[in-house]
Amino acid sequence: MLSDGDAQRLGGAADTLRAEAAAAGCRLEQCVVDVRRLEDMERLLKCCLDEFGRVDLFFNNAGVIGEPSKGVLDTSLTSWRWVLDTNVMGLLNGMHTFVPAMQAQGTEAHIVNTASGAGLYSQHRPTMGPYVASKHCAVVLTQAMKTELDAQQSTVVPHLLCPSVVATPLVETSRFFQAQAHGLASPADLGDMDDVSRQFHARLNDDGMAPDQVADLVFEAVRTKRFWIMPHPDLTEKRITARYEELVTAARECPRTGL
Ligand SMILES: NC(=O)c1ccc[n+]([C@@H]2O[C@H](COP(=O)([O-])OP(=O)(O)OC[C@H]3O[C@@H](n4cnc5c(N)ncnc54)[C@H](O)[C@@H]3O)[C@@H](O)[C@H]2O)c1
Repeated sequence: MLSDGDAQRLGGAADTLRAEAAAAGCRLEQCVVDVRRLEDMERLLKCCLDEFGRVDLFFNNAGVIGEPSKGVLDTSLTSWRWVLDTNVMGLLNGMHTFVPAMQAQGTEAHIVNTASGAGLYSQHRPTMGPYVASKHCAVVLTQAMKTELDAQQSTVVPHLLCPSVVATPLVETSRFFQAQAHGLASPADLGDMDDVSRQFHARLNDDGMAPDQVADLVFEAVRTKRFWIMPHPDLTEKRITARYEELVTAARECPRTGL
């Protein structure tokens, strides 16, 4: 079951994959869903169960970058809500809908939440605060779910994907939903992409890992039941070490309280 909130993009992806799926003896269905709407997510679950009878793997992956040239203070509250509704509440809608259904099946099933390396590192970039905040939330939300599922010895195995830079059209696809969130008919009504967004799009696509390679790493983690999926382990280790050192230094600089 392939799903997305942009019907045209979804149709294009389904057309590309259908022949490949058929060659592998699989049937491919599609379902347009806005992850911000719980009722859409419930409809997606129903479609999955009606078409295939069960859900063994759920990829909770939809996300938006927000407005790459803006930060915490100059991002409008409308844009803040759009980013948090998608990257946090959208993720939660998926967890609330799919995990109980997969648990009810009683057999091993997997949920892969996509956060980002941006959810692990310190934020020193003067823009993209809303994206970074949403992805930190996505990381903690998924870790909390893992703790709960482990305590219940659940048959549902959680995974958390935290890539750094991947060659995708994320900056472009986000504009479709940005326009929607601002009541505009199409991304063209937002005007031209600004320089920062253009540069960010180029960075993802010039330096980014191929999505297929990320997908292979995801399936390897699913097979071995590994929770953390860090497709850029060296960069990630360097940046989380810097964050750790920043926080430990800050704690050591605070007045001793005996606690
Ligand atoms: N590309 C990167 O460098 C990178 C790095 C770290 C994390 N990520 C995360 O990976 C995930 C996938 O992004 P991608 O890079 O493959 O880009 P992508 O644009 O190919 O995929 C994002 C998809 O989410 C869909 N989407 C957005 N809002 C939606 C909504 N409300 N309802 C339903 N669908 C919606 C878009 O239409 C798009 O198809 C995102 O969560 C993103 O934040 C990407």
